Amino acid sequence: MEQIENLAKQALQQIQECTQMKELNDLRVYYLGKKGPVQELMKNMKNLSPEERPIFGQQVNQLKGQIAETIEQKKEELAMKEMEEKIEKEKIDITLPGRKPVVGNMHPLNLITQELEDLFIGLGYQVIEGNDIVSDEYCFERANIPKDHPARDMQDSLYIDPNWLLRTHTTAIQMKVLEESAPNLPIKVVCPGKVYRRDDDDATHSHQFMQMEGLVIGEHVTLSDLKGTLEFMAKKLFGQDRQIRFRPSFFPFTEPSVEVDVSCHICNGKGCPTCKNTGWIEILGAGEVHPNVLKMAGYDPDKCSGFAFGVGIERVAMLKYGIDDIRHFYTDDLRFLDTFKRYE
Ligand code: PHE
Repeated sequence: MEQIENLAKQALQQIQECTQMKELNDLRVYYLGKKGPVQELMKNMKNLSPEERPIFGQQVNQLKGQIAETIEQKKEELAMKEMEEKIEKEKIDITLPGRKPVVGNMHPLNLITQELEDLFIGLGYQVIEGNDIVSDEYCFERANIPKDHPARDMQDSLYIDPNWLLRTHTTAIQMKVLEESAPNLPIKVVCPGKVYRRDDDDATHSHQFMQMEGLVIGEHVTLSDLKGTLEFMAKKLFGQDRQIRFRPSFFPFTEPSVEVDVSCHICNGKGCPTCKNTGWIEILGAGEVHPNVLKMAGYDPDKCSGFAFGVGIERVAMLKYGIDDIRHFYTDDLRFLDTFKRYE
């Protein structure tokens, strides 16, 4: 009995002092294993009287149970401790400031396009886009520019084959809209998009740029309607003090045709380098839609009339944001692009 007590004391103490799972496992194998000290005690059985044996056996079994139970408790305790240590070690400091994701912003050409779209939607226009590749017919013939017409030189083109080309102006979209709408009235659309010309790139020229054209067809739509519309646009884009003026010009698809100037938004018309000391800046071409264009699309030019205008998006963006080189728009330099965050 004394041996049992001593063994219990020793085993329980060792288990209690144990700090590692592995160590605990070794103790379990040692004390409860077949060759362990508990099993060893059983050998003493034969020296006992038959009355004493069951009592002794019971005691040894109790000891076994006690050791097993203590080990189990210790195991839970150690597992808990390990978990706590792990949590402590892997703790995340949630008060640290996070890494800011890099957020992009609108491209200046999209800013202007959107501003113009919003403005014209507000005036009741629809926004219509088209394909970049168009047929010669819709880019030129329908716009009253027959083959061999000298005006084709104005727009040196990028042909894919003799009948198809990259559109040189968004007028190609308008010619489709006209045909698809005929003979219904009115038409009020703006057509934004990329256009392409065989041009050498420099500070003011790009072989690819953006335009937005407007087209209004109805009964008695006159040049003064055009003037009012463009004045409204100029004020929205460049400030309420802006004025516009028309100068005679030529486009095969409009008659009469005009070049439109806006009073300089930098010097207020007094004269500065931006307006080359004239007080005026040319921003777009426009005119009354040519009767031939209406006829080809299926309209009767005696019963309706309308105006069209075409504005270069890069030109507007350069004037509005003070950009001196058109190539900035296409070089994807983040230092340039990031400066437009504040306009969103
Ligand atoms: N299509 C002309 C250009 O590309 C612009 C324009 C459009 C002029 C509509 C008059 C009317 O230069």
